[in-house]
Amino acid sequence: MTSTPATPIDQQRKLVTTLPGPKSQELDARKAATVSSGLGVALPAYVARAGGGILVDVDGNHLIDFGSGIAVTTVGNSAPAVVAAVQEQVADFTHTCFMITPYEEYVAVCEQLAELTPGNHEKRSALFNSGAEAVENAVKVARTFTGREAVVAFEHGYHGRTNLTMGLTAKNMPYKHGFGPFAPEIYRAPMAYPLRWPGGPENCAEEAFKAFVYVVHTQVGETNCAAVVIEPIQGEGGFVVPPAGWLRRVAEYCHEYGIVLVADEIQTGFCRTGDWFACDHEDVVPDVITTAKGIAGGLPLAGVTGRADIMDSVHSGGLGGTYGGNPVACAAALGAMRTMREQDLCGRAKEIESIFLNRLEQLRAKYDVIADVRGRGAMLAVELTAGAGDLTPDPTLTGAVNKLCHEQGLVTLTCGTFGNVFRFLPPLSSPDHLLEEGLDIFEDAFARATAA
Ligand SMILES: Cc1ncc(COP(=O)(O)O)c(C=O)c1O
Repeated sequence: MTSTPATPIDQQRKLVTTLPGPKSQELDARKAATVSSGLGVALPAYVARAGGGILVDVDGNHLIDFGSGIAVTTVGNSAPAVVAAVQEQVADFTHTCFMITPYEEYVAVCEQLAELTPGNHEKRSALFNSGAEAVENAVKVARTFTGREAVVAFEHGYHGRTNLTMGLTAKNMPYKHGFGPFAPEIYRAPMAYPLRWPGGPENCAEEAFKAFVYVVHTQVGETNCAAVVIEPIQGEGGFVVPPAGWLRRVAEYCHEYGIVLVADEIQTGFCRTGDWFACDHEDVVPDVITTAKGIAGGLPLAGVTGRADIMDSVHSGGLGGTYGGNPVACAAALGAMRTMREQDLCGRAKEIESIFLNRLEQLRAKYDVIADVRGRGAMLAVELTAGAGDLTPDPTLTGAVNKLCHEQGLVTLTCGTFGNVFRFLPPLSSPDHLLEEGLDIFEDAFARATAA
């Protein structure tokens, strides 16, 4: 290898300009002239380098990253094993198309997926470029296997922005608005959302399961249902954690009626929630699992992994795509997965959980507008409402706190059907002192926004 290693990034927050700085502003003017305004930007500080828990912008500001590029850089940006694997692979060959002349890296990723995903049964995988593409293909496979058409998804669910996955996604604005018509044969069941369950959190598991069964029975018909697609912990919809036992009952029901249970672990997968996959917490073994985001340390790669009989039910040539399982992305994934094992990143996610929960619970005790603190591992959230037991969502306060965090060089993300959820997704490579400092900034922003 002839490349020189990059100098390590100082793991300190440092603001040398107001944000965005002048160079970022220049780039943003170029963006306005050339990039579709259909792409929104949360914080227009243009990034030049990143690593550990820091993003360095073109003006030299060091920002604390609490977003991981939406749960992607779980192993950290430019993680050493990912960089080395990519550099080596890119020098060897960049593309052949696996469907034309295959290569080992693709097979090795599928071997890893078979080993790491829940269940000890025989599995097969197919690789794609994005999460949405993986979900689309999981539905294709489920339809072929069952000979059925209908797919059930859940309220608050998010599965992507292609036509089929827009249909599966619940939230209209900004994901679906004006983009219809959507694919047919998609049905939606209520989500087991404890905070907002009409019968109260204590009845959520039981009543939400009954409501799901009711939708399948009355609107779909069990024998017409090809797949149930579910995020074991919802992402964009608000980091909704269903009550214990609910997912297992859904899984058992699917098993009883020959419905393919597709666990969409695109956001929750690969150590993010303190285990390899969020299904592991519930001891649920889905028939098919979709993965992306954290899988490859920032390179575009996605997987569909499932029972061998299901995945092999598709005719030869039925799955694929020009770039799916690109060798550079596969090499990155192998480097990322090695890093997760060697550095015990599931353990690190649990440590991050305790740092955050401790601080966020203290904050909840202080501010009654924090109606809920929830999540697992390094996938945590607070939901902001009117307070004093009134669950009316407060997206205005959420936006105000977010803006104050951004001004201080803390990259935070919001989410939720009502835009009132703060989500925390730091890279698992973040040192403790950055996590604590980011939480100080969040706390300060909260105090200022609620006093205003
Ligand atoms: C649970 C889930 N499914 C699917 C997707 C779509 O993935 P992509 O943006 O890679 O298409 C996302 C993206 O946020 C997601 O969180």
